[in-house]
Order: sequence, then C-alpha cells, then structure tokens
Amino acid sequence: MHLRPRQIDWPTAEVGDDVFGEDPTVNRLEAIAAERMGKEAALFVASGTMGNLVSLLAHCARGEEIILGSFAHSFYFEQGGSAAVGGIHSRTLPNQPDGTLILSDIEGAIRPDNVHFPRTRLIVLENTHNLCGGYPLDLEYMSAVGDIARRHGLKIHVDGARFFNAAVALGVPAAKLAAEADSVSFCLSKGLGAPVGSVVCGRQDFISEARRARKLLGGGMRQAGVLAAAGIVALEEMVERLADDHANACKLAQGLAEMPGISVDPGQIHTNIVYFGVDRKDMTVEELVKRLDENGARMLPVGPGRIRAVTHYGITAGDIEQTLSAMAEVAQSS
Ligand SMILES: Cc1ncc(COP(=O)(O)O)c(C=O)c1O
Repeated sequence: MHLRPRQIDWPTAEVGDDVFGEDPTVNRLEAIAAERMGKEAALFVASGTMGNLVSLLAHCARGEEIILGSFAHSFYFEQGGSAAVGGIHSRTLPNQPDGTLILSDIEGAIRPDNVHFPRTRLIVLENTHNLCGGYPLDLEYMSAVGDIARRHGLKIHVDGARFFNAAVALGVPAAKLAAEADSVSFCLSKGLGAPVGSVVCGRQDFISEARRARKLLGGGMRQAGVLAAAGIVALEEMVERLADDHANACKLAQGLAEMPGISVDPGQIHTNIVYFGVDRKDMTVEELVKRLDENGARMLPVGPGRIRAVTHYGITAGDIEQTLSAMAEVAQSS
C-alpha cells in the first residue's frame, strides 16, 4: 500500500563508489543479505522489479524460456521487461489459489530438445504470492520444485519481494526456505520498512552476471550507502516484527468478515495481505476506497468489487481498529 508523504529520519552512512565496489555500507548490506539467505553473494538494486529483471537476464539468454505463474508479479506487472530487454520467452501456467504451480504442469511445460522449441532455462516462483493473497510457499513445495529443476537441469528464481514474511509465517529460517532457489530477490522497502531498495542473492558467478545486468539497466548507483544503511536497519531490526503485521492483517480480516456486503475468509490470511470482496450496488470500490481514505485508511481497489489492504511497519493494532470503524461508518452511509 502506498504511503502518504511523510518525514523520515535517515541513518547516517559511510559511503564510497558502489560501481567500483567501494561503498562499505552497500558491501555490508550485501554481506548480511547473502548470509541471511544462505547464499554466496548478493547485489543491492533499486527495486523489486529491477531485482527480478537482473536475475532473469543473468539466468537466461535471448530466446530461452522461463516457466512462471500467470499471476506472477514478474509476468503481470513488470511491463514484460524480460521479453522487452532480454528477449526471454515466458511460458505461463495457472497459479493455484495458494500461489503454487501444479507440479505436473511444471513438468509438462518443460521443453524437450527439439529444433522447434525454445530452451527451457528457469522456473520462477513467487513467495509470498502477491496476487494469490500473500500465501507463503512452504519447504515441502520448494523441495518438490527443486527436485523437478534438478532432474531437468533447470534453475529456480524466487521473486521473494516479501520473502521474510513467508519465512516468519512458516517459522523457518529464510536460508532454509531459500535452499532450493538459485536466486532470490527480496524487497527492503515493503514490510521491512526501508524507503528504497531490494537485494538479489545467489552464487558468486550469478551475482557477477546480475551486476553486469544492473549496470546495463542504469542501476549502478554511486554513493548508494545512504540507501543501503536503511536496508541494514530493515534486515537487522524489522524481520522479527513481521509477525505483528500478520496478526494485524488477520485482525483486519476478522473484523471485515463480520460486516454486511463484505466477503473475506480470515482463515486464508497467512501474512500481511488481505484481499476482500465488496458487494454494494450504491458505491464502486473506487468510491469506497476514496471515502475510507478521507477517514484515514488507505487501501487499493484491485478490480470490480475487490480491494487489497496491506499491513506493515507503519500500521499499528490501533490503526486496524480505526480502519474497521471507518469501514463500518462508510458501510452504513450510502
Ligand atoms: C511479488 C512482487 N514482486 C515484485 C514487486 C516489485 O517491486 P517494486 O515495486 O519495488 O519494483 C512487487 C511489488 O509489489 C511484488 O509484489
């Protein structure tokens, strides 16, 4: 959920030229991220979109194919950057409501060696899955996909914009959840509360390629330590508290579920994303969201009769109560 303009206190940082690998604060952020993710190396990038694109460019050559969900953020919301910039072909499979791809679908989509076909190179998963209600993909599923990838010589990239939400919700260390992935990108700027940035993690040779791709995209930043410093705070101080966001999301869903004309199943809320349906003849969701905004609660209309609410560092348990009161007030009016 986008925030209102606000003032923030910025951490101070020792800086250098990161394009030359000389920014100590960026280097520290990358070392911490790699260690948390159980990978050899990491790369600080401007955004989740850039994290996914540099990863795909590092894994695939032009004309090669990736397998990913039809609701994957990297397929749906990133301007087809992998095709536009990298000539990478997307093979989409239907995402299940829990964000998974059916294993036999994945296996069936892998191309045999045939002159007519592109070469399948990569499986892309999303954890947690944004459009599929913030569902976390668990260890068992990751291990099953890992098994397919190994048998077919494929790599796995995880779009882990909210990867730490998944790890906290499942109660497993991030490194364990990332073990089957060749690369994971995660956002510092979503639930982890940093103002800017994402990090890509993987093997050293993969990160060297991703670094080249980042430069190609104009993402080589100079004294980026001022941004990375906030990322270090995000990783060191903001991970454990994600459980509060999950509890707040659940509380929001429970309150909403009791309101007439609103449909949501609180039992399906696992992390910090709440999608709910609104069945009102007298008001569009855009109008409803506008009224809520005037009452202090910001949400996103995501299609006819559907709204997305996200909890994060800036939202307290008190804010959830205020949001539910605002919703009740708007619901009673017409
Ligand atoms: C799953 C997922 N991946 C990637 C992104 C892209 O992140 P950014 O907005 O930082 O480019 C998002 C953004 O919402 C996301 O939800």
